[in-house]
Amino acid sequence: MEDSDSADHSAGKTTKAERTGTGSAASGAGERDHFDFIVVSNRLPVDRCSAEDTGCEDGWRRSPGGLVTALAPMMTKTDGAWVGWHGAPDETVEPFSHGGIDLIPVQLSADDIELFYEGFSNATLWPLYHDVIAPPEFHRTWWDAYRRVNRRFADAVIGNAAEGATVWVQDYQLQLVPKMLREARPDLKIGFFNHIPFPPPEIFAQLPWRRAIIDGLLGADLVGFQRSSDAGNFMRSARRFLGASVKQQQVHVKGSDGQTTHIARAQAFPISIDVKQITELAKRPDVIERAEQIRRDLGNPKTILLGVDRLDYTKGIRHRLKAYEELLQDGKLTVKDATLIQVASPSRERVEQYRLLREEVEGTVGHINGTFDTMESTAVRYLHHSYPIEEMVSLYLAADVMLVTALRDGMNLVAKEYVTARKNNDGALVLSEFAGAADQLKQALLMNPHDIDGLKDTIMRAVNMQPGEASRRMRAMRKQILDHDVDLWSSDFLAALAEKVVRDDS
Ligand code: G6P
Repeated sequence: MEDSDSADHSAGKTTKAERTGTGSAASGAGERDHFDFIVVSNRLPVDRCSAEDTGCEDGWRRSPGGLVTALAPMMTKTDGAWVGWHGAPDETVEPFSHGGIDLIPVQLSADDIELFYEGFSNATLWPLYHDVIAPPEFHRTWWDAYRRVNRRFADAVIGNAAEGATVWVQDYQLQLVPKMLREARPDLKIGFFNHIPFPPPEIFAQLPWRRAIIDGLLGADLVGFQRSSDAGNFMRSARRFLGASVKQQQVHVKGSDGQTTHIARAQAFPISIDVKQITELAKRPDVIERAEQIRRDLGNPKTILLGVDRLDYTKGIRHRLKAYEELLQDGKLTVKDATLIQVASPSRERVEQYRLLREEVEGTVGHINGTFDTMESTAVRYLHHSYPIEEMVSLYLAADVMLVTALRDGMNLVAKEYVTARKNNDGALVLSEFAGAADQLKQALLMNPHDIDGLKDTIMRAVNMQPGEASRRMRAMRKQILDHDVDLWSSDFLAALAEKVVRDDS
């Protein structure tokens, strides 16, 4: 039995202006004492950069990835602080405000970056949680760094959280933080959201520190996942590796004295995007004109296909290129009629698997273009850059077919952005059934990217789709996303976190 509290985590609390005494959102976060609401993630929404980097303004640029895309809009509207790393090694940065958000930087040394971020987070957990597409590596020194750095994030929260504050911990890099917070500050309401998949216990079993991870997560009152299968996997692991008794997705967590300290719940909360931002951009004359210019610059092909990904082995870029190359070989597509734009934004460039992937993708693109390009037309326009959101929306407007071929993906917000931008209900989305977004976008052309023949057929269905069918599918998908934007995601999560859970120990 549960009853509901207010979901408004700032209700009845001091406002941003009251606390700073200035009324100005631009004042530094260091000026105030404690926050009633704190988000903590490995990355802050902005990253340190230098003037020669694209998109760098005043030494900062938007951080990569879906987590920031989803959380930044909420945080600009919320009275709270964001604790995270600012992207540069060995640099101490004082709390500051950026884009209307109070930011509390956590410092990572070059060693922390190598062992905690590149090592345990991105060469152990990332591949383990994504179906072991790449083999995870297990090193005790990486695990030690993971514990040490998680403690530092927890301490930063503890030092900045008001009595009874709500703390929302984000993603796989910080899975030990909920328990660390619970032990030091039982007064806090603690939520956790995992942006990536949670693996089945048969795969999770490989992790030498599996018990500590589950124990860390169970420190939260509410553990959120993208898909209900992820929540189910987590609870099955809690049962199998900790012997937890799970009833209706709830675990009664016990302290060292054997007494129940709290009830941890697991539930799916599929993440979304800032629908308003994308729909407004999609109507802007300069964004529309830029989309037309992109098509003209490519020589006015009949069909523009588009892929937009971090350059990550989970995204299925190699499978996509293979299918496309074969379609050119088979003569089903020609470079006169079709161009594939592949935006591959730089990611985790010092991790071995990412270096290998880049070499392979760039070798394949060179091979395809060398074989099929003419003086006038190109097969693949490959761009190893990240772009501002305005340019992304122009690309979405220009693209007749969007290719999302992930081998495993927590959600995939690019798919949701594309659909949202297609305000005329045209265009086709080819979507992997292994992306979380497939649970919501059922009218996409769903496919298994490992099946290259199936992928080729699906691409051709998308290229040749009749306007009536395209419009029916796009309309249904747009309705789904317009009704479920990221504000609803965060308010649903925070409302569930605020619920009082009545213990039923029978
Ligand atoms: C995914 C993860 C995020 C991560 C982002 C970018 O979206 O879920 O936690 O921040 O990728 O990766 P990076 O390693 O650059 O932070």
